[in-house]
Amino acid sequence: MTTSPSAAPLIQLRGVHKHYGDYHALRGIDLEIKQGEFFSLLGPSGCGKTTLLRTIAGFENPSSGSLVIDGKDMAGVAANHRPTNMVFQSYAIFPHLTVAENVAFGLRRDPRPREDKAKAVQDALAMVGLGGYGNRAAHALSGGQRQRVALARALILKPKVLLLDEPLSALDKKMRELMQLELIRLQRNVGITFILVTHDQEEALVMSDRIAVMFEGEIGQMADPETLYRRPNSKRVAEFIGKMNLLPAEVAGDGSRIVVDVAGLGRGEVAADQAPGGVIPGRSTVGIRPETLSVLFPGETTERRLADGIVDEVVYYGDMTYYDVRLPGIDQPLTISMKNLIGRPVLEVGTPTQVVWDERSLVVLSR
Ligand SMILES: Nc1ncnc2c1ncn2[C@@H]1O[C@H](COP(=O)(O)OP(=O)(O)O)[C@@H](O)[C@H]1O
Ligand SMILES: [Mg+2]
Repeated sequence: MTTSPSAAPLIQLRGVHKHYGDYHALRGIDLEIKQGEFFSLLGPSGCGKTTLLRTIAGFENPSSGSLVIDGKDMAGVAANHRPTNMVFQSYAIFPHLTVAENVAFGLRRDPRPREDKAKAVQDALAMVGLGGYGNRAAHALSGGQRQRVALARALILKPKVLLLDEPLSALDKKMRELMQLELIRLQRNVGITFILVTHDQEEALVMSDRIAVMFEGEIGQMADPETLYRRPNSKRVAEFIGKMNLLPAEVAGDGSRIVVDVAGLGRGEVAADQAPGGVIPGRSTVGIRPETLSVLFPGETTERRLADGIVDEVVYYGDMTYYDVRLPGIDQPLTISMKNLIGRPVLEVGTPTQVVWDERSLVVLSR
């Protein structure tokens, strides 16, 4: 994307709070979303994702703070006068109408001639892969097709921002994965800014340019998927996204040289960017992803760091095997994922083994 001084964010929230009576649902949200971004709000159920999305849409008013979209303050601007459109969790399809009538519903106040509107409906249906489905009865559609109709109905209004609240949660796993890829393609084609709400971390990682991870009405971390996964800034972000081993550690040093002594593994030195949430010297926690560790198979050798352990649990996934390995001196076994390569055995429970680790994959989680 080109960035010029005039490239102001399309959406800007400053200090947004939302109270429902005594309940403080949004606690100071600061957020900027660029034109054309695929942005996701990710977090556990009840953390305020839908409230934030509805605030952007204009279905909720912030108790305090400001919201600017496309250079205009949205205070007092009704939902139907905002350059946003929302796709709801329950698609809100009219079952007694045809597919085309459902999509045309969004255009009911559009003054264009009938033929132009029919053409717009055809274009929108083609965009979501439903060309030729216009005359079908909506009640006869599958879940995935209903989702596409809901998308077409939202896109036909050509909003600047499409807001999607858990749009794929009602679909089965296969259809969900297919629709994830289609939504990415669609978003690239139409160039509209998408804001997706999801509680599914994998979905957020797969689809987004950037993700805001929310907890209890606050944003815990906001970054691109790789940074969130590799460099979480806190234990709660680390645990919410993917599987993370958390080990007790002694941490010493400052910004330039950080030394960690990890229970069960040993001492290592880490770079400043491996402590994205800052360093609090003393007893702390270190995170390690399962795929950055390996078990040493019989006959293998390595120059890398080793720690003794015993296989405590084996979970076979076909392409992968997950080992829980017990290390001396720590309660929680270490989870290690290994690709099932040709000729590689699956170790049995109780086998003494050695864990291969690398200080470059550690992340210091002081908070
Ligand atoms: N209209 C409302 N009145 C009172 N409480 C609400 C209302 N809407 C949402 N809440 C509360 O605000 C919190 C956040 O809700 P929500 O934004 O729907 O979370 P999420 O979408 O992340 O699951 C929840 O505890 C919910 O019960
Ligand atoms: Mg919600």
